[in-house]
Amino acid sequence: MVADTSSTKNITALTLRVWRQAGPDKPGKFVNYQAKDLNPNMSLFEMLDVVNDELTLKGEDPIAFAHDCREGICGTCSLVIDGKPHGPHRGVASCQTYMRSFKQDDVITIEPFRAKPFPVIKDLIVDRSAFDKIQQAGGYVSVRTGAACDANAIPVSKDNAELAMDAAACIGCGACVAACKNASAMLFVAAKVSQYSLLPQGQPERDRRVLSMVGKMDELGFGSCTNQYECSAACPKTISYDFIARMNRDFLAASFRSGFTQSSVNTSGGA
Ligand code: SF4
Ligand code: FES
Repeated sequence: MVADTSSTKNITALTLRVWRQAGPDKPGKFVNYQAKDLNPNMSLFEMLDVVNDELTLKGEDPIAFAHDCREGICGTCSLVIDGKPHGPHRGVASCQTYMRSFKQDDVITIEPFRAKPFPVIKDLIVDRSAFDKIQQAGGYVSVRTGAACDANAIPVSKDNAELAMDAAACIGCGACVAACKNASAMLFVAAKVSQYSLLPQGQPERDRRVLSMVGKMDELGFGSCTNQYECSAACPKTISYDFIARMNRDFLAASFRSGFTQSSVNTSGGA
């Protein structure tokens, strides 16, 4: 994490330029708001709460934005802040952005993730159910319940365990898609495929999983990877683009074994 932790900046007011859009089929536009009575330790979301309180008191529609944990865990928040998914700092989510990252009287532009597979629902909220569909296509392991074996019965190498944990850190936020000029979901899918392919429990369904998830990703209109690595740069969990290369190897091996061919499938990323 490279967040600015200084709380000494004297910031009390700034201007927000916020994307307002009443619904999926409505036109959107930027609207300016003055945010006042700030302090450097407020999160960006707390600042939006204050602005929304004022809008509500005035009888205006508050700014809709997605949030849940506000701790960088759930992956619900999805803001583009001054042109960057999740804002100016690496390795943090939108909800972990604090007012001390800005200067007095700054103008902050806040808009939703921009990607065709993530249509705007309202204001700053986008529909990321496409990710759910990719997960449902294979992002799981099938286990026989009621017959759990001892946790240490299946050995896992330390390297693989750590890599699997790195992949499992993906919170499914979609910033990788928003950061990619092609709206590619390769980093997300690679993380979800790899967290299982690195572990013994993921082996029985390994081929079917990678073929299904990559196929679903293409079907849903996500673009191709062209090795720009903006995905990893925007990722709040700093998921490495190396996982894309790992997934591509898995995909090619699975395709070969199954005789599966799909000309539209993208396997170009993560050289
Ligand atoms: S790979 Fe990173 S940016 Fe993409 S969905 Fe997962 S956590 Fe978010
Ligand atoms: S609100 Fe949960 S990660 Fe931001």
